[in-house]
Amino acid sequence: MTDLKSKAREVYDRGFCVIDSIWSPADRDLAERAMADCWEKRGRPSLAGFGLSIHPLLEFLPEMTPLFDKPVLLDALAMVLRDEPFLAHTGARLSNEESADAIGWHEHYAWDKSRLPGREKIERVLFACYTRGSSPEVGSLVVYPRRYDEPMQVAPAGLHDHWPGQIAVAAPPGSCVIFDTALWHTAHRGTKPGFRYLWGTHIQGKSNPMPHPEDNTSKRPEIEEFTAKSPRLRSFIRDR
Ligand SMILES: [Fe+2]
Repeated sequence: MTDLKSKAREVYDRGFCVIDSIWSPADRDLAERAMADCWEKRGRPSLAGFGLSIHPLLEFLPEMTPLFDKPVLLDALAMVLRDEPFLAHTGARLSNEESADAIGWHEHYAWDKSRLPGREKIERVLFACYTRGSSPEVGSLVVYPRRYDEPMQVAPAGLHDHWPGQIAVAAPPGSCVIFDTALWHTAHRGTKPGFRYLWGTHIQGKSNPMPHPEDNTSKRPEIEEFTAKSPRLRSFIRDR
């Protein structure tokens, strides 16, 4: 069984953790089909450059709602945030061998960065699902580790520069990467041709009312149907 306490500790000590076996092969298949269908319906646009962005993910693909109903994932998010988790943003990126070799260093901490040193807890995290994992072949999530209470680091001048100390995250298919919004990260194209499916979220603690420029929600009625049988999922998606 996954030791969620030590996983949460990793997010505080180095900015991220990987939790294995959250999604089954059937779950991964559901996500890939939904994203590939969306690409088809939009007329198979070129994936050169950034690739296809699907935001808010649940507005376009509400059939992915059941993928959030994972107790281990919800427990892990609660442990990292030391709060009840709320789904504040959903999005996805579909890319392939034609896409840029890297998306460039960035972070998602949109609030006053002088809050970071000495903060008591992490207020908002992302989680990312790479349906085929994060690896050099499929494409890697690359991060620059940080402690939760460090001042914001200064990234390399070139968005695509190698940053000594950077880590290419190794994550198997079906795993989840949870990371602090203050973590600098980029993503590299894989060495193997083919689609790279990423879907992910921002999760905020319910006791933190601060708005964030990337907040997005969906009112699609299908979401209510999927959450009707799971009060915990409903609370995660709807009750801020
Ligand atoms: Fe990002």
